[in-house]
Formats: sequence, structure tokens, C-alpha cells
Amino acid sequence: MIVTTKQLFEHAYGKYAVGAYNINNLEQTMGLFRGNLDSQAPFIIQISKGARSYTHKLMLEGLIRSADQVFPDAIFAVHLDHGDEETCYDCINSGFYSSVMIDASHEDFETNIAITRRVVEAAHAKGIVVEAELGQLGGVEEHVKVDEANAKLTDPDMAKEFVERTGCDSLACAIGTSHGAFKFTGSQTLRFDVLAEIQKRLPGFPLVMHGSSSVPQEEVERINAAGGNLKGARGVDETQFRRAAELGVTKVNIDTDGRLVWTRVHREYFRDHPENFDLRPIGKVFMAEYAKFIAHKNEMLGSAGQLEAVRRLLKG
Ligand code: G3H
Ligand code: 13P
Ligand code: ZN
Repeated sequence: MIVTTKQLFEHAYGKYAVGAYNINNLEQTMGLFRGNLDSQAPFIIQISKGARSYTHKLMLEGLIRSADQVFPDAIFAVHLDHGDEETCYDCINSGFYSSVMIDASHEDFETNIAITRRVVEAAHAKGIVVEAELGQLGGVEEHVKVDEANAKLTDPDMAKEFVERTGCDSLACAIGTSHGAFKFTGSQTLRFDVLAEIQKRLPGFPLVMHGSSSVPQEEVERINAAGGNLKGARGVDETQFRRAAELGVTKVNIDTDGRLVWTRVHREYFRDHPENFDLRPIGKVFMAEYAKFIAHKNEMLGSAGQLEAVRRLLKG
């Protein structure tokens, strides 16, 4: 069942965070649904602009609609990740997405407000909710590359003004994380002090943490042992998710860790099965490993085991 992120956040706020996972293909979609049902968790499917154009935007839509039929117990939101204004309108008008992110965080404050406000008006007119971003994460985003040194943490006072003036439904805050597998290369750490100040000014308002992959060292070592070259990759300590949730983070974005699962499974499989040229055996291994990975993340986020409570809330 497709719901809005707003409905999921109402149940989660202050208690746990909902996992927001990016997908690009069939195997990820199957693993995602299985992992969330195995761990009995509500979840958010994220589709980036790159994912929409990897094959065709309608292909992912078709996959998700089919998965909704194959897994009728699943409760999830369908969310555009890091949208520009044009892509937001395309998703809003598609009648498929329940939530969009407008990311105008690279613009100046007033321009970010103006763009976000326009998207909020168009989305709310169709019952779709909007995530916006203020501040800038380090790392590579779809259309912008930001140096760690130039990443700008979210200013708590500006966050309050931004939310009031835009009417957005949730806010992605820069609190020291970055996108990709190489986080915290300098002296950067997670800034819970900044998060606490934002929550103080926006009590009860859902906050979002991007760049939340933990880049497990065991995963990196296995990839490197199987021929990879990911030296110095480092991520967020996943034992800190619950603390972030207590401070108002209701959505935690994870993409890179899923890519690491894919890389490890494929590198090890082809190393160990050099005679193989069939795509299904490896696809099956990946779907099972991806499901395990999702279930583990949900345990760390606290969303595992919340599915039936969310269903009851939705039924009213
Ligand atoms: O923050 C970006 C997400 O990890 C999506 O990555 O734009 O390469 O699909 P992508
Ligand atoms: P990671 O690169 O840490 O997985 O972050 C993903 C993300 O923020 C997607 O919007
Ligand atoms: Zn992101």
C-alpha cells in the first residue's frame, strides 16, 4: 500500500526513523520488499533522477506497482530523491509518487524558499507531500559536487524561517554527513548539537538525514579482498540512528550501503564461480543479501516491528 511520508512520520516521530532506500532495478526492488516484510517495517522507496533515466522512468513505476501486488502487506511511500523543480512537477503530475524532494539547497536562501514554495503549492494541491533541504552536505549529489570543507551545516534559526515560509512537510538538514562511501575524511563528525537546536525551534516537525550510509568496514574489506579498490571508505555509525530519531529525524537516507552489498556479492560470486555466465544464480544471491541488509538497517533505525502499528493507525 502506497502512503505519504507524512503518514509514516506521524507514527515514527521521536521514537524511530523510517529507512529511505534508493532503487534502480528489479533485484533491488525484490530485495527491498522482502527485507522490509521480513523485518515488519514500513519504508520509503527513493527514486533519484539518475534512477528514473537509467532505463525509463515508467520501468521503475511498473516494478513498484507490481511489487505492491506481489507483497500486499507492505506499507511504503514512493519518493523522488533530490529533485529539481522540473522533475518535481513531472512526479507530482504522474499520479504515482506520494512524496517529492525539492533540492534547491545550492541556491541562496531566498531563491531556495521561492522554488520550494512553488513546488509545495503544486504538490499540496494533489495531496503530495514535500521534503526540502537547507544547508549543504559534502560529497556528490546528482547535479552538485560539494567539498567537505565547503559543506554548510543547517542554521537552526534559518531552518525555522524556511519551514514557516515554504510550508514544506519535512526538512533535510546538513548535520555533518555526506553522500557516498568516503564520509568524514577530515575532522568532520555528526553534529547532534546542531540537530538539537533545530528540533528546539521546530518541535514535532519531521527532519531528514541524508548521507546516512555506514559503509561497514567488513563490507569494504570483502570488496577489496575480491579485487575492489575502496581505500579509506568510511561512513556514519549506525548505532547513532536512534539518537538522531529522538532528536526529530524521521527519515534516514541510505543508498551507498546497498551499492556496497551489490559490489561485494558480485565480486565474490564471479571470483568464486569463474565458469558462471548465467545471470539468475547471482541475482538470487543478491536479492537474498539485499533483503538481509534492509532488515538489519531497519533494526538499527527502530522501524523493524512497527508495520502492524502503522497499519492500525492508517485504518483509524
Ligand atoms: O544522494 C544521491 C543518491 O545516493 C542517489 O544517487 O543520483 O546516483 O542515483 P544517484
Ligand atoms: P548515502 O550516500 O550515505 O547512502 O546517502 C544517500 C542519500 O542521501 C540519498 O538521498
Ligand atoms: Zn541525499
